[in-house]
Amino acid sequence: MKPAYLYSTAPMMDWTDRHWRVFARTLTRHALLYTEMVTAAAIVHGNLDYLTAHDPSEYPLALQLGGSNPTELAEAVRRVRTLGFCEINLNLGCPSDRVQAGSFGAALMADPNRVSACLMAMQEAAGATGPEITAKIRLGIDDQNEEDTLPAFIQMLDHIGIQRIIIHARKAILGGLSPKQNREIPPLNYPLVYQIKKQFPHRTIILNGGLNSTQQCQEQLAQVDGVMVGRHAYQHPASLLDVDPVFFGVSAPASSMFAALDHYRPYVERGLKEGLPLKHFTRHLVGLFHEVPGARLFRRTLSETAHRPDADWSVVDSALNYIQSSARDVHDPRLAT
Ligand SMILES: Cc1cc2nc3c(=O)[nH]c(=O)nc-3n(C[C@H](O)[C@H](O)[C@H](O)COP(=O)(O)O)c2cc1C
Repeated sequence: MKPAYLYSTAPMMDWTDRHWRVFARTLTRHALLYTEMVTAAAIVHGNLDYLTAHDPSEYPLALQLGGSNPTELAEAVRRVRTLGFCEINLNLGCPSDRVQAGSFGAALMADPNRVSACLMAMQEAAGATGPEITAKIRLGIDDQNEEDTLPAFIQMLDHIGIQRIIIHARKAILGGLSPKQNREIPPLNYPLVYQIKKQFPHRTIILNGGLNSTQQCQEQLAQVDGVMVGRHAYQHPASLLDVDPVFFGVSAPASSMFAALDHYRPYVERGLKEGLPLKHFTRHLVGLFHEVPGARLFRRTLSETAHRPDADWSVVDSALNYIQSSARDVHDPRLAT
């Protein structure tokens, strides 16, 4: 069985919520999925059930934590270690002001001693049989010379026995750039990640950042152990239909986007019965169809009607009518039912 980390989807606040993850599972059974980041403080002081809610169909599933206090992170790990997550990942890459104010995320790349204390506390709390503790990092931050500081940082992770490291292959600029800009600027530097893999061949190195086609992801596997895909997986979910055949050598759980939606429907209808609004489920579907006739009307129908209080699955059916009727002549196997 190939390891799930060969292809993973990135943790993305507000995007990779539990409903998206259940939908993603209708497209790939084998990719490793990540939650949105949850702070250790929220896990320790907040509503644990709500913050960690997930459906077993989402497995294998990694929980991402944010934090910089070893005691609090350890306590958070103790609270979640038996909840079904196969991995607990520490966020060392997020540049947002809110995260910086809490002195965690990418800001921690400047403080390897603290990171080491955090991760060791998390490993101890997870125990030998608990979820694997991993780190998601940047190449560096601000004016760090990443050619020097990154190998030193990885050396620290290696020393404390972090087996798998996810590297978002660009630096984070903490002053002056928005989180969105920090996902475009400065340029990606894949060769530095390849060099890290050569220098630490016994560690599992996962490349993240700017991967936007299945072929590009496949090519990376000649240099690194796995890929993590964020925006492209979310904005072009049809790409997830390639994941099981291409990376795991088995067929996809659905033969088309239509079939995937059929699989998603019972989950959505259960949620509607529990009183959740349709828009919570359909907001993840707007990127389903690109460049096929009717895609615009599909998106418009969802965004104009899914928020209505009585909206049910018939909204999705109506939106799909635009695709089915006008894409009949499009020879895209993903559109075949
Ligand atoms: C909307 C959004 C939210 C994100 N939230 C997180 C997060 O909670 N934790 C994290 O480590 N990275 C977060 N990221 C960064 C992604 O995990 C990923 O590292 C980044 O988007 C680069 O990968 P990509 O080019 O494949 O999108 C977020 C990215 C986006 C677009």
